[in-house]
Amino acid sequence: MKKIKGSWFPIFASAGFFVIGIWYFVNPSMDSSPRLPASQEQRFVTVSGIQIPLHNQEVVPEGEAQAIVALNGVVAEFFKNIYRPTQPNTDIGSGLTFEGTRRSAHPKPNGCLNAQITINSDLAEKDRVGLFSKVGQTFPAIARFSSGNPRPNQPDKVTDNRGFGLKVFGITDEHLLPNLMGDEPSQTQDFAMNGTDSFVTKDVEGYHRFEQIALLETTDLNDAAFRYMKELSLQFQLGLALRVFNAFKKIGNLKATNPLGIQYWSISAFQHGRGKDAPLVKYSLLPCGGGWVEPFDLNDPNFLRTNMQKHITQKPACFSFLVQDQTNLSNQIEDLTTAWRDDYSPFRELARIHFPLQ
Ligand code: HEM
Repeated sequence: MKKIKGSWFPIFASAGFFVIGIWYFVNPSMDSSPRLPASQEQRFVTVSGIQIPLHNQEVVPEGEAQAIVALNGVVAEFFKNIYRPTQPNTDIGSGLTFEGTRRSAHPKPNGCLNAQITINSDLAEKDRVGLFSKVGQTFPAIARFSSGNPRPNQPDKVTDNRGFGLKVFGITDEHLLPNLMGDEPSQTQDFAMNGTDSFVTKDVEGYHRFEQIALLETTDLNDAAFRYMKELSLQFQLGLALRVFNAFKKIGNLKATNPLGIQYWSISAFQHGRGKDAPLVKYSLLPCGGGWVEPFDLNDPNFLRTNMQKHITQKPACFSFLVQDQTNLSNQIEDLTTAWRDDYSPFRELARIHFPLQ
């Protein structure tokens, strides 16, 4: 008996650790962030000399301000390396010119469309906050559809994340945040969404390290992803490495044939109303009637643009603007590599975005 106990115990113990380890890795709502006790006082963070009120659940990671400055440096270096300064919008690597702004993320525009967003008139009281308090009203908006890869000339047949940037106009109410650009009070509100529900880094520090690799150390994004995950693994951040792997896998599996035909997610959480204890939510945009896949020309490097153009010149398009509640505290807000499970917190509609023929 003694002998059995002696020989089997390490096996049972290892099996136990293995099961706990697997659960830790696969549980999508696993919270790997420190949590602050509820505070009675309003806390602030200073960005560009402006004090921004913090939500009670928000934890500002140590060194975040330095990571932002360092990230700016990486992006500036990348711009010097990739863009020919004397010729507007020329990629040094490919020598090709391109349309659009020089950016380190989402440089390839798949098109900008005029839109209108109409807030649903039957919203529950808890959803009547900010823009969504204007029930029944319609606001003009512009949507920019993009591809995430830092190379502006990447052909659309290469899998990539797809972006949906929405700028809503005519918001005359006082904004929750001051205008960081320091000019007139803004009358717009922006929403940035991606075609997957999780991000490839946990936070700004992670993004800074990943961008160092992806923008300065290699030109191949798959290689960058591999190097970043290897680095996390060597630092024994195995859970995070696996979540990063899953986030890249979702991008690899994203089948977009028309930017108007896929779902988008905010990934990050947002404060839904005023005050440090306001509810927290995530957003999503779903094509009205559901997404679709359509035929495309593999030889056309810009088939996303072509298909969207063809669509919007022939028929209008529409998206449901959805919101998802934070149902419990395991729906944490500090780690962008995790999504909130929609079987626990289902999305509901707040508004509709209409794209007329154009
Ligand atoms: C650590 C977090 C993140 C960092 C540091 C970051 C950084 C950036 C940067 C530098 C740009 C280019 C901006 C420009 O040059 O104009 C960009 C664009 C963009 N990002 Fe992020 N990003 C982060 C997270 C996210 C998340 C969570 C989403 C959405 C789900 C997102 C969606 C987008 C979109 C859609 C654009 C293109 C916007 C447009 O079309 O104007 N990003 N991001």
